[in-house]
Amino acid sequence: MKVPISLVDAFGSEFELQIARFAMQFGFLPDIHALHSNRFLARSVIPHITKLSRLFNREEKDQDSGLSPYWKESSNPLHLRMAYFLYFMPSNLFRVAAIGSELSRLGFQWPTQNFQAIELGAGPASGACGIAAAQNFAHLGLGNCGTWALVEQDQSILSLGAQWATSYFSSLGLSNWGVRPFHRKIDLEKEFLPKNAPRFHLWLMSFYLNEITINPQELAIKLLRAWKNHLHPEGIAILVEPALKLQSRKLLELRKHLLLEIEKEKIKDLKILLPCLGHQACGALSQNNDWCHEEVTWWRPPYFRKIDQMAKLDRKTLPFSYLVLAKSEKKLEELLPRLKLSESHSPLQRHRLVSPAHKEGQDLEFFLCGEEGKRRARYRPFHLDGQDSELQRGDIFLNAQIRGDRNSSRIIQFKEIV
Ligand SMILES: C[S@@+](CC[C@H](N)C(=O)[O-])C[C@H]1O[C@@H](n2cnc3c(N)ncnc32)[C@H](O)[C@@H]1O
Repeated sequence: MKVPISLVDAFGSEFELQIARFAMQFGFLPDIHALHSNRFLARSVIPHITKLSRLFNREEKDQDSGLSPYWKESSNPLHLRMAYFLYFMPSNLFRVAAIGSELSRLGFQWPTQNFQAIELGAGPASGACGIAAAQNFAHLGLGNCGTWALVEQDQSILSLGAQWATSYFSSLGLSNWGVRPFHRKIDLEKEFLPKNAPRFHLWLMSFYLNEITINPQELAIKLLRAWKNHLHPEGIAILVEPALKLQSRKLLELRKHLLLEIEKEKIKDLKILLPCLGHQACGALSQNNDWCHEEVTWWRPPYFRKIDQMAKLDRKTLPFSYLVLAKSEKKLEELLPRLKLSESHSPLQRHRLVSPAHKEGQDLEFFLCGEEGKRRARYRPFHLDGQDSELQRGDIFLNAQIRGDRNSSRIIQFKEIV
C-alpha cells in the first residue's frame, strides 16, 4: 500500500516523547528515560509483549476460537496495559492511518465537516488515533469538528484510551475532536448497539472481530442491521484484522456473507470499496490455502525499534487484512474518483496487485485481483530497474489490457498505476 512519507515519518522522536510523557503521567513509567532502559524494558515490558503476541497469534489456544477477556486475567494488569500501549497501540494506529491515507489518496470525500465516529473494541483508542494521524499527515479531510464514541468492555483500558486520544488529538491540533467513552460489553446475542444509539459517519473496528465468536453469516446479518440503523448515508465502515491466515480468511468469509445478504435483501446502498474494487467472489477464499493481506512500512519510534531488537521481533513492516465499505448508492469511481477509467474502458480493466512482484527473467510476476477474481499475471517493464518496475502490493492498474487466463496472463498495456 502506498503511504505518504509525511505519515511514514510521523512517529519519530517527537511521538516517542509524547508517548513517554503520557505513560509517565499514567503511572506506567518510573521516569522519562525508562523507554530506553534495557533493564526496565526486559523486566516490565517485553515479557508482556511476548505474552500478548502469543495470545493474539493463538499459539496456545484453539486457532478458531475468540479470546476471553485478558486485561484482568493477567498477574500484572498494569504492565500488560502498558505493554499494549507501548507496542500494539502505535502499530495498530499506523495500520488504521494507512487505510485512511488510501481513502484519501483515491479521492474519497466525507459527507460532513462535523462528524460522529465510533470505534468498537477500542482498547487504547488505537483506531481513532490512526484516523487522527491520517487526518493530519495524509489529508483525510474528515472534518475539523467531531466526536468519537469509544466502546470497550474493560474500564481501565477504556479510560487509558479516552485520555490518550484526547491528548493525541490535541497534539495534532485537532482540538475540536472530542471523545466519549462507553464502558460496555458488546453482546452479539443482541445487537451491536442499543436501538437508541445515534448514527455515525465512520464505523471502525480494529483488531476486535477476531476476539468474538460468532459465525460469519450471523455476523454479516448483525453488521448490516447495525449499519442500516447507525451508519449515516455516505458514511464509511472500516474493519481491520490480523494478517494471519485463519483470521484473514474469517474476514473474507464475512465479506462473502455480506455480499450474499446484500443480494438477498436487495440492499442498494452498501458497497465494498477496498481492497477489492468490486463485488466479485473472492479469489483467495476459493483456494483452501490462500488469504488476502496488505503491508505497510513505517519509521518506528526509536524505543519501538529497541523493543523489536530485544524481543527478537520485527514490526518494521506491518501486515494486516482489511475491508472498507461505503453506505452509498454511488458507483465505485464516484466514491473513489482516482480510480476513474478512460472512456470506453470497463471496470473489468481495473486490477489490484495482491502479492509482491518478483522478477522472472525480463518479466515481473505477481497476483492481481479485479472484477473477474484473482489471477497470476506477468508484466514486462520497459527497464527492469526503471520506474515502471517498482510495483508493490496494493498498486492498482487502470485501463489494463490483459491476455491469458487466471493461471497465466500478461498485462499488455495500461494507462497508469495508481
Ligand atoms: C486487540 S484489542 C484492539 C484494540 C484497538 N482497537 C486496537 O486496534 O489496538 C481488542 C479490544 O476489544 C475489546 N473487546 C473484545 N470483546 C469485546 C466486547 N464483546 N465488547 C467490548 N469490547 C470488547 C477487548 O477488551 C480489547 O480491548
